[in-house]
Amino acid sequence: MRILMVCLGNICRSPTAEGVLRALVRQAGHESHFFIDSAGMLATHAGQAPDRRSQQAALQRGYDLSSLRARQVNVTDFQRFDWLLAMDHDNLAGLQRLCPDPAWQDKLRLFLSFAPQGGLEEVPDPYYGGVAGFEQVLDLCEAGARGILAMHARQQAEGK
Ligand code: 4NP
Repeated sequence: MRILMVCLGNICRSPTAEGVLRALVRQAGHESHFFIDSAGMLATHAGQAPDRRSQQAALQRGYDLSSLRARQVNVTDFQRFDWLLAMDHDNLAGLQRLCPDPAWQDKLRLFLSFAPQGGLEEVPDPYYGGVAGFEQVLDLCEAGARGILAMHARQQAEGK
């Protein structure tokens, strides 16, 4: 399963989602079943490590994001990935506009569609806010990542 996490800058939400999903997949022993990456709609932060506040909050829960580097989404991503998971509706709309083939629109989803029980559709942008926003991002990324693993388990049980 090839999954690309997408947010605006690729320095807060999507690298957190990438790091959390990588960790849960590793804990489950399913690394060979997944290819996980993240990217941003903007190129502004390309080449940068995740925001210091995201890194600190993640590290407190045991997720090391320090090796990740931001990049912008590009058209080849729509071919390379099975799922491109947007952190909010703006990001999803941006992906829908960029998508070069109508057949690939089905690959585009909100990340939190994998955690519907939480009642939120979007992972709120923490960039201009305080510490609590980064904790919420982590809570939501853990919920979404668990949902993705649950989907993977269902698919395996169905022999897909
Ligand atoms: P992210 O947060 O989309 O979660 O990485 C942001 C990072 C940078 C900016 C906006 C959001 N920015 O405008 O530079």
